[in-house]
Amino acid sequence: EIGRKLFAGEAGFYWAAASLGGLPPMTGVEIAFAGRSNVGKSSLVNALTGRRTLARTSHTPGRTQELNFFRIGRAGSPLAFTLVDMPGYGFAAVGKEKVAAWTDLIHAYLRGRANLARVYVLVDSRHGLKDTDARVLETLDKAAVSYQIILTKVDELRQSEAEGRIAATRSAIAKRPAAFPDILPTSSRTGAGIAELRAAVARLLAE
Ligand code: GTP
Ligand code: MG
Repeated sequence: EIGRKLFAGEAGFYWAAASLGGLPPMTGVEIAFAGRSNVGKSSLVNALTGRRTLARTSHTPGRTQELNFFRIGRAGSPLAFTLVDMPGYGFAAVGKEKVAAWTDLIHAYLRGRANLARVYVLVDSRHGLKDTDARVLETLDKAAVSYQIILTKVDELRQSEAEGRIAATRSAIAKRPAAFPDILPTSSRTGAGIAELRAAVARLLAE
């Protein structure tokens, strides 16, 4: 299928930015992954690309400390694009000031990046949407940047619990103008939802 093909080629890290001034030039489509610390952003980047160690992951919240840019696909190909793995917001085991600085950077990036085609906002399926997530959704709605909610770690829930979380999340975002109505349940551990997410990225690039 198309989604699989998209991620079957080259994938590599090419840029890290710790500040707005340090962002790479805007070339080609960017797709960003945002979410609270430890929600599973870096693991999802690895699952999508089928590479275990492309993005660094950790049990300890606060692992990713910069915006990391990964080039997917051959340079010059019309199907090449960039994935952006971001630091987390919310609690991290690195001190409040660092998290506050990341959070400012994340909001500024999401608000002002013209080539940002879609943001996937990752939410832990066990915990649901938190206030810090709502603030990010607010930023995206105001900036009219389209986004979709991904529920992570569904392997930790029973089917009925997962369904309940999907329904609750769907109704929580129903009135948000820039949100996709569909919620994507995923697990980087079992691979659940990964093919669907790849297909969604493929559809987005074909637009
Ligand atoms: P920060 O960079 O610190 O913000 O974290 P992150 O959102 O990038 O999370 P990361 O991918 O580093 O994963 C955090 C923890 O969650 C690790 O211990 C992962 O093994 C675990 N994890 C990630 N995805 C899944 C999943 O699908 N299921 C389960 N059960 N655990 C997961
Ligand atoms: Mg990370």
